[in-house]
Amino acid sequence: MDQETIRPPPFRAKMVERISLPPEGTRERRLREAGLNLFQVPSKDVYIDLLTDSGTGAMSDHQWGAMLAGDESYAGGRSFQRLRETVRGLLGHEHVVPTHQGRGAEHVFFSCALREPGRTVPNNTHFDTTRANIEQLGCRALDLPCKEVRETDTPHPFKGNMDLEGLERALDERGDEIPLVMMTITNNASGGQPASLENIRAVGDLAHGRGKPLFLDACRFAENCHFIRLREPGQGGRTVRDIVREVFSLCDGCLVSGKKDALVNIGGFITLKEGGPLLGAVRDRLILHEGFPTYGGLAGRDLEAMAQGLEEVVDEDYLAHRTGQAELLGDILLDGGVPIVRPVGGHAVYVNASAFLPHVPRERFPGQALAVALYRRFGVRSVEIGSVMFPTDPPPPLELVRLAIPRRSYDNDHIRYVGRSLAELRKDRDSIRGVAIVEAPPFLRHFTARFEER
Ligand code: F0G
Repeated sequence: MDQETIRPPPFRAKMVERISLPPEGTRERRLREAGLNLFQVPSKDVYIDLLTDSGTGAMSDHQWGAMLAGDESYAGGRSFQRLRETVRGLLGHEHVVPTHQGRGAEHVFFSCALREPGRTVPNNTHFDTTRANIEQLGCRALDLPCKEVRETDTPHPFKGNMDLEGLERALDERGDEIPLVMMTITNNASGGQPASLENIRAVGDLAHGRGKPLFLDACRFAENCHFIRLREPGQGGRTVRDIVREVFSLCDGCLVSGKKDALVNIGGFITLKEGGPLLGAVRDRLILHEGFPTYGGLAGRDLEAMAQGLEEVVDEDYLAHRTGQAELLGDILLDGGVPIVRPVGGHAVYVNASAFLPHVPRERFPGQALAVALYRRFGVRSVEIGSVMFPTDPPPPLELVRLAIPRRSYDNDHIRYVGRSLAELRKDRDSIRGVAIVEAPPFLRHFTARFEER
């Protein structure tokens, strides 16, 4: 473990929240009531909650302080102006449109940018709500992850990259159907892996060469840029802030869920570099679905918290602590013989569920089976990221269980507990059974599907 990994967090607690391990009988009952779906388990019956890093972090004293100063005016509020100036300063994009969270941004943006059914949107990998928002418009979400993403054990530093040849082919073969190119940083569905500056630039060049704009799904932009600084040749001497500025100079706009790297519990935004018809359409649609363009479904205090969070997230001590915690969990899991995706991503560690449960075939959802077993035995909630979440054709490259770490919330003892739990579970893995889906909705089935052990 290097010095960065063992350095204490650059913050201390001012408020705490009691958590406890519920009795075994309660956990078993909750699983039965939930149809083995961890999204349906009440949080009071979860000991350590690694379901998501989205909106689950702790805000700083400065963020809470800023919330008291929120301007709740309907139009032209001071808090909106603060957010807009912060985003302009950080990302260099002129137009900032707040939304209630990331999927609000996706809904508004895609319904304006895609306009008609039959369009195709290439991306390194679409996350669940991004894919669903595109598909419900009758369009196609095309995943083009780089080929290294299938190799869980190789140390490739940028497995979040886009497959450039695949993108070029798609643009050549069906360019007419493609109105824009997306890129997700970091690539959540593929292990939380970063994309390199070089790859983002190449994607931008390919898209722009064909007259297509590039948009970033930039929820975890700061973690991605931190990895660029650490891992990309020639980038080590720059500040994260400087790298952020360059990355966003390569695209035409972005969609952000503020619940990740804006360090807030709710919020999001869209940016566009240029004004014009798309901006007009986005603002009109926003008024219909989210709110007036200077609050976009949020309270003024939420806009303040998001502006302050965006300043804090590019703090390099914070980012070293953040990625160090994921690395610590990864080290403990590897020591315990747990197969994980390497290198460890920014916001989470991803367990390779097919390798953990070799006796459970893909049709029996090894990721879901493992997530259920981890809650049942140790009260830890995780999430399946595999064929349950993405019932795509072809199926996703890997069957994973994600252990997502909320920002600034758990300390390293919690992380050690989780690591040791999985190592323990591995010893009894033969007793873990697969699951079958007995009930599921047409979209985003992982949130509400019910399962049975088989
Ligand atoms: N894009 C990515 C890459 C995401 O990870 C998420 C959310 C969204 C868009 C949508 O944002 O939740 O604010 O509506 N990911 C969460 C997760 C839910 O658990 O990874 P949202």
